[in-house]
Amino acid sequence: MPRQVTIMLSVQYVNYRDLLLPPIAHTKESLEFAENFSVEDTDVFAVTYPKSGTVWMQEILPLILNDGDLTQIQTIPNWDRTPWLEETRLAVVVDQLKSPRALVTHFPYHFMPASFHQSKAKAIYVMRNPKDVIVSSYYFHQMAGFLEDPGTFDEFLDKFLDGNLVFGKWTDHVKSWKHNNLGDRIMFITYEEMKEDLPAALRRISSFLGKNLSDETIHTIAEHCSFNAMKDNPMSNFSLVPKIYMDSDKSPFFRKGKYFTSSFTFV
Ligand code: A3P
Repeated sequence: MPRQVTIMLSVQYVNYRDLLLPPIAHTKESLEFAENFSVEDTDVFAVTYPKSGTVWMQEILPLILNDGDLTQIQTIPNWDRTPWLEETRLAVVVDQLKSPRALVTHFPYHFMPASFHQSKAKAIYVMRNPKDVIVSSYYFHQMAGFLEDPGTFDEFLDKFLDGNLVFGKWTDHVKSWKHNNLGDRIMFITYEEMKEDLPAALRRISSFLGKNLSDETIHTIAEHCSFNAMKDNPMSNFSLVPKIYMDSDKSPFFRKGKYFTSSFTFV
């Protein structure tokens, strides 16, 4: 009789300078690599607290930087196409990234490498209404085998409010990036603004990146970055990831893609 083998992943979080990180892609080596990473002046970082629109920006940035060319989003999984600064894949793919490079990070501002501060690299901070972040994160903790079980929603809410989740407290994250000294190297945008009028948001991002894209190109990018298009893109919907890590039967990664209130803006 065949025996069923159940493999359990370790969810013992890594404590990196008092910031909790999931053990799956965050190792001593990856964090050292991030610390010593050589940021280029042409680099662009999308910065997010988890569940605020990271994967969305992993689709948007390569398209804007490559004038709407679809090759990257159709052939390279998001984690290699627009890698996380702090994760293990960066060291693997860094030599294949073409300038201008697009990266993402969940790091608070003061965790960025020294070379970032010395460079002219740009950052785009995406903020999402915390009410929606909590709900999205709660479901994500149910499907991600590398994250702690969220418990009940009330228990999870307490953890969120106390900052006892990966990448720390939402308010600390937002404040750290809001009170930066990057001048015109940083732009702020909200998930809600992108959701409300994606073409307008894409124009604002393009202009920040010095890209003057035609209406037709903006339209093409918006089409490919819609919730439904990304949900169907195997390079972006995590269907390539084994179920032990991300189980879409428990909750899909592209869950609702909606917002609680549209008037959530940076002031
Ligand atoms: P929900 O769980 O509310 O659906 P992150 O990439 O930072 O982990 O954020 C994931 C959240 O962004 C999920 O929210 C996901 O559905 C949403 N998202 C991803 N791509 C999106 C898109 N193109 N349009 C709207 N929401 C998107």
